[in-house]
Amino acid sequence: MRLEIPTNAERFGANLFYEVQKIYELEGGYGTDSEFDSPFHVIQQIPYERLYEIEKDLAIVIPVKDERLRLLEGVLCGIPHNCLPIVVSNSKNEPIDRYRMERNMVDTFCRHAKKKYIIAHQRSAELARIFKDGGYPQILDDQGLIRHGKAEGMLAGIALAHLAGKKYVGFIDSDNYFPGAVFEYVRIFSAGLSQGKSPYSMVRIQWHSKPKIVDGELFFTKWGRVSRITNQYLNLFLSHYTGYESEVLRTGNAGEHALSMPLALSLDYSTGFSVETHHFVSLMEKFGGVLPSPIPEIMKNGVEVFQIESRNPHFHDAAKGDDHIQEMIEYSLSVLWHSSICPKSLKKDISNELSRLKIVSKKEEPIKLRQYPVLSSLNFTAAAWKIDWQEHGNFSPS
Ligand code: GDD
Repeated sequence: MRLEIPTNAERFGANLFYEVQKIYELEGGYGTDSEFDSPFHVIQQIPYERLYEIEKDLAIVIPVKDERLRLLEGVLCGIPHNCLPIVVSNSKNEPIDRYRMERNMVDTFCRHAKKKYIIAHQRSAELARIFKDGGYPQILDDQGLIRHGKAEGMLAGIALAHLAGKKYVGFIDSDNYFPGAVFEYVRIFSAGLSQGKSPYSMVRIQWHSKPKIVDGELFFTKWGRVSRITNQYLNLFLSHYTGYESEVLRTGNAGEHALSMPLALSLDYSTGFSVETHHFVSLMEKFGGVLPSPIPEIMKNGVEVFQIESRNPHFHDAAKGDDHIQEMIEYSLSVLWHSSICPKSLKKDISNELSRLKIVSKKEEPIKLRQYPVLSSLNFTAAAWKIDWQEHGNFSPS
């Protein structure tokens, strides 16, 4: 890949939030191009070998809930062979067993492609046992199973990726229509992660555009209704502490993102669709220098957050309705509002916004969402012995 060098960044304590990087070439060539020997350039080449080095240690978690099988198959097809796909499904078991259909398709696909993979149902006793035995009961409900929600599926995916020995973990939604876009996202993950100087890094994708039909014509929208609002308030949060107005944060709701495993294990998480915005809240609270950091090691090394703009349009199953959009806005803004370091003036602005959108009345507090502690508090040794990776039960490694 050939893309801009990440030069400009906002610093917030130990966090470096880089400006969005633009891609010049999706495929940057094999071997190092001597044209880049001179120090005076703004573009960098990340040769294929460097991407490969990351991808063999990268798991891609695919959260699924009742999506079309063809879309899921397309997503699998877009994942480079050396990455380990981990499908975490919360699909229905009845009246039709959608999960069984997904498993059959994934099993067959990966057998034909000779691809290693893991598939698990979010509500399976086997998956729950990892968290029970590992001493992380917060994620379990009163039936002793992993709670419903996208974030909860993602947490299960991170745990599986760590148990499988992966050094990096990325996330790609299962409702993407274009395998080529999925392929690009993974390449962006590996290119972004290869830039990290600290062991604690994250890559977030800013979509190039989301195509829509407007008045019978294709229109490529840049910002979704949710991300427009989330990014505005995230930047206000950041600007309050830096003292300079900023627009650096463009990926407050990036469902497509990847983390180095040490960082994935060191963040707190928030439930459902608030998870991506909460990454920033967790980074600012824990490593922003406003509160004492619980992990001095990270304060020393720093955290790098890369934001990279994809070239493919993002075309996904968007028929999820206005209630879903309203809920996502509420969830994203509520994690900012409830942050222990959210400035008073910003709380007021957020409350006004939520009331303007008729989501929460001015007098009400935004919903306080369930939070999960760092995954490093899970005892992976105690959790691991229960997993038989060869067993064709709810885990299906090849
Ligand atoms: N395992 C699991 N468990 N997967 C889930 C669950 C769940 O409870 N709920 C949803 N999913 C899966 C869906 O099948 C899909 O693949 C993905 O999570 C995203 O869910 P959508 O319902 O399609 O979300 P969206 O498209 O509106 O929003 C996406 O993009 C946003 C950015 O615009 C999500 O990735 C958001 O998290 C993201 O902020």
